[in-house]
Amino acid sequence: MAALHGHGVAVTVLLVVAALVLLMQCDAAETTCAGEVPARPRPETVSIVDFGGVGDGRTVNTWAFHKAVYHIQHQRRRGGTTLLVPAGTWLTGSFNLTSHMTLFLARGAVLKATQDTRSWPLVEPLPSYGRGRELPGARYTSFIHGDGLRDVVITGDKGIIDGQGDVWWNMWRQRTLQHTRPNLLEFMHSSGIHISNIVLKNSPFWNIHPVYCDNVVITNMMIIAPHDSPNTDGVDPDSSTNVCIEDSYISTGDDLVAIKSGWDEYGIAYGRPSSGITIRRVRGSSPFSGIAIGSEASGGVSNVLVEDCNIFNSGYGIHIKTNVGRGGYIRNITVNNVRMNNIRNGLRIAGDVGDHPDEHFSQLALPTVDAVSIKNVWGVNVQQPGSLEGIRNSPFTRICLSNVKLFGWRNAAWKCRDVHGAALGVQPGPCAELTTSLSSGFCSY
Ligand SMILES: *[C@@H]1O[C@H](CO)[C@@H](O)[C@H](O)[C@H]1NC(C)=O
Ligand SMILES: *[C@@H]1O[C@H](CO)[C@@H](O)[C@H](O)[C@H]1NC(C)=O
Repeated sequence: MAALHGHGVAVTVLLVVAALVLLMQCDAAETTCAGEVPARPRPETVSIVDFGGVGDGRTVNTWAFHKAVYHIQHQRRRGGTTLLVPAGTWLTGSFNLTSHMTLFLARGAVLKATQDTRSWPLVEPLPSYGRGRELPGARYTSFIHGDGLRDVVITGDKGIIDGQGDVWWNMWRQRTLQHTRPNLLEFMHSSGIHISNIVLKNSPFWNIHPVYCDNVVITNMMIIAPHDSPNTDGVDPDSSTNVCIEDSYISTGDDLVAIKSGWDEYGIAYGRPSSGITIRRVRGSSPFSGIAIGSEASGGVSNVLVEDCNIFNSGYGIHIKTNVGRGGYIRNITVNNVRMNNIRNGLRIAGDVGDHPDEHFSQLALPTVDAVSIKNVWGVNVQQPGSLEGIRNSPFTRICLSNVKLFGWRNAAWKCRDVHGAALGVQPGPCAELTTSLSSGFCSY
């Protein structure tokens, strides 16, 4: 009788757990950024074939893409136009998009970047960086580029954009690059950008770079590049507001997501922050960071929410990085419900990383890091729980670790200096700099 009774309790517990899981899933499904940009159906569809495109993997289709975009731009069809790329392999040089268009990659469509680097036009460096990120002066334009656009959708039925980045990676390795490498997708000064349901692979440099943008949604993406490919960041929201990245798998050679806002004196002068950034249900691995903020954050970064992410086989789980000379601020950052497995360093907030654009940065331009709340993090196989190492004359403030459990190496301990905050339910035990006090208003369970 007792055994039966025990069995009944077990079943009840199971049912309750199952109901809770279901409830949580429903909750998650409702929390989505898809509504931020209305995805409109377009009244007109044209195909790249209509403009002379040939999807045989050998023909260079740059001119066909330019003609197609020119057609969409000048016809100004009310409600916009879809440019369909059917199944096939479409080799092309870089091209611009225009407003009110959808680039649709059908199932089996591969948009392949040419490897003839001489055919990649150069563009001005970004004002908030003062120079190319890698080398002084101009930079190569991105493979697919948009400047000053509204209402642009890049989507499809699991079509692929292949940057064929190995020629660029090799030039970087051999130090023969002349200019900063191209991003795969870049939007500047644009709003209402929606990128979904496609695969990005082998980007020459960063994969998706919205810079000076507002209202950007990136959802249901797969972004892949080898772990040894240099600087192939997944998504880098940069001096942009209201950016939502969700339901994506990212595995690349550098940070999966890195929020930025300009570099040292150039970023300070340009003064355009990143704010209102949501990262949800992103999973993947990187030799560097899962989710990063910085190190170029000179225009300020605030109001960031990272939720329900899964980081594995990576260097750092959550990585906030800045440096003297950056100026700016990193403020009101919330990380909630993150799982980690096989991570070198679970959590790192560092005030001494990254390089400088030139020698003109100011030693007085101290960044501030304030109100960073890391909650409900569960990690296994974590070598080092983390380090929180602030700047002597600008210590990190209101850093909250709550219910953070990082298991792994025996005797691994937190490293802290120049940091103030609180820790509740942290394993291994937090460092003394974080006072474990329930009365800290900014930090709770
Ligand atoms: C693409 O846009 C850039 C501005 O962002 C412009 O300089 C360039 O000429 C455009 N290229 C084409 C082919 O229209
Ligand atoms: C902090 O950021 C969150 C988004 O993560 C936002 O909802 C909230 O209003 C921000 N709080 C303040 C005080 O700005």
